[in-house]
Amino acid sequence: MNLNLKIWRQKNSNDKGGMHSYQISDVSPDMSFLEMLDVLNQQLNDKGEEPIAFDHDCREGICGMCSLQINGEPHGPDRGVTTCQLHMRKFNDGDTIYIEPFRAKAFPVIKDLVVDRSAFDRIQHAGGFVSVNTSGNTQDANAIPIPKADADKAFDAATCIGCGACVASCKNASAMLYVSAKVSQFALLPQGKVEAKDRVLNMVKAMDEEGFGNCTNTGACEVECPKGISLENIARMNREYLSASLKK
Ligand code: FES
Repeated sequence: MNLNLKIWRQKNSNDKGGMHSYQISDVSPDMSFLEMLDVLNQQLNDKGEEPIAFDHDCREGICGMCSLQINGEPHGPDRGVTTCQLHMRKFNDGDTIYIEPFRAKAFPVIKDLVVDRSAFDRIQHAGGFVSVNTSGNTQDANAIPIPKADADKAFDAATCIGCGACVASCKNASAMLYVSAKVSQFALLPQGKVEAKDRVLNMVKAMDEEGFGNCTNTGACEVECPKGISLENIARMNREYLSASLKK
């Protein structure tokens, strides 16, 4: 496949940045999107040009490091996959592909396609810890009865990899899907109930302080989420928040 690439280049966070055009040929349909960028970077290196900076780590859809807004969609046109799992067979020979960093005020661009998503870490940090009494007769976690439906929902929420596609897909740059998944993974389990009220209040406060927008129920986040995190989590977080606010 031969492709025309329009890629966002930005020297640093103060640079204005802009789209640059690149041609790439002999792209195998079996390459992942990141492998295609590796080939382009090799070509740029060979010509003595600065390679394009982009985030990645596991390349298995687990870590949440890869990002990229591809033709206007976080993680590109496929569904339920991260950019590292997107394959070039989803594109056609001769296509023009627009590649940009995730766009959100709370995710400032560091360089080219790399954005700073540490706001997510600070929200998670604000959520604190889960208390477990380790003195005396500590109950074995496996011996705590949890309804199967709750365990499944908590596990589904815990599959969020924190990639930020929810924020990048939202017209308000809202982080509600991410935060609600992190709230839900504990709120549904007895181990998470001890600090549940402080957790939801502190995480929502941190989310607002980081400059994320509000949720207006467009549902774009659920569609673009590579892990299929459900909007149901946002409803649960809102209930948890209301209940914690009233009780505090
Ligand atoms: S590089 Fe880890 S999820 Fe894509």
